[in-house]
Amino acid sequence: MNRTLELTDEDRSRLRPRLIRSAPADGFSTFPQGTIHGDSIALAPQLPIASVDLLILDPPYNLSKDFNGYRFAKRTVEDYTEWLDRVLAAFKPLLKPTASLYICGEWLTSASIFIAASKHFVVRNRITWEREKGRGAKSNWKNASEDIWFCTVSNTYTFNVNAVKLRRRVVAPYRNRDGSPKDWKATQQGNFRDTHPSNLWTDITIPFWSMPENTDHPTQKSEKLTAKLILASSHPGDVVFDPFQGSGTTSVVAKKLGRFYLGIDRNEEYCLLAERRLELSETEPSIQGFADGVFWERNTLAIQP
Ligand SMILES: C[S@@+](CC[C@H](N)C(=O)[O-])C[C@H]1O[C@@H](n2cnc3c(N)ncnc32)[C@H](O)[C@@H]1O
Repeated sequence: MNRTLELTDEDRSRLRPRLIRSAPADGFSTFPQGTIHGDSIALAPQLPIASVDLLILDPPYNLSKDFNGYRFAKRTVEDYTEWLDRVLAAFKPLLKPTASLYICGEWLTSASIFIAASKHFVVRNRITWEREKGRGAKSNWKNASEDIWFCTVSNTYTFNVNAVKLRRRVVAPYRNRDGSPKDWKATQQGNFRDTHPSNLWTDITIPFWSMPENTDHPTQKSEKLTAKLILASSHPGDVVFDPFQGSGTTSVVAKKLGRFYLGIDRNEEYCLLAERRLELSETEPSIQGFADGVFWERNTLAIQP
């Protein structure tokens, strides 16, 4: 069944008044919670400095892409690196000294991310996400992965490793001498081990039409992927900021996980989609693929508690 979320005209008129359209004349005195419709790079100086705990950056990649009328054009690696450098410089003052940030991109964009990010932050890791779906290419390898670069402002930062464990099926169920399971648990659904999260993610698909979180946004991230970033790198009540929010995935997951959130997008329709998803999250607070305090492998929905 196609469960893609679509807005009605009634939704648009109801949700439009919720959008923040501009900053007060002397800027925001406290970090606002909600959705701003506007250009985040231009708005950055209006936001309070040193107030963000976690910045999630999912900017237009170095590809030609149409975001509902706003076209981002592919450019040289040097030009994209310069653009990203300006983006990072704009948001850097908003971060607390203990803040973390994640920057998304595919393989070509990654060439710029490392260079630009290392100028401003401590680059700690590159997560590679096997997103699987992608166009087959006739004279190249199909592009089926993306990178998420993990950076921090300083060497003091949050990393909640126990909040992002992956529950895997046990293939070889070794036992201790007394016959008890060695590092795994026998359950009615099968044998599982909760494993430490690595920088290779194979348990996440892109949102697709049968998932209730799916929208028509062309580059929507999944709630499961975003939940890993938020759980690992923030605490309840912390400020999570996404200045390229698209359909609002970061804000929705931050809200579900009890964080304070702000998302900005230059496209009104995307901002309204974000507000609709925030509204729906009040009655549907679960995150597909995250249950019982752990992340689950693909195709385990039927056995998740
Ligand atoms: C890669 S998408 C983000 C998708 C998002 N993570 C989601 O789950 O839906 C990038 C978004 O940035 C927005 N955008 C691009 N430049 C912007 C700017 N200067 N200010 C605010 N939004 C911008 C685009 O409209 C687009 O929706």
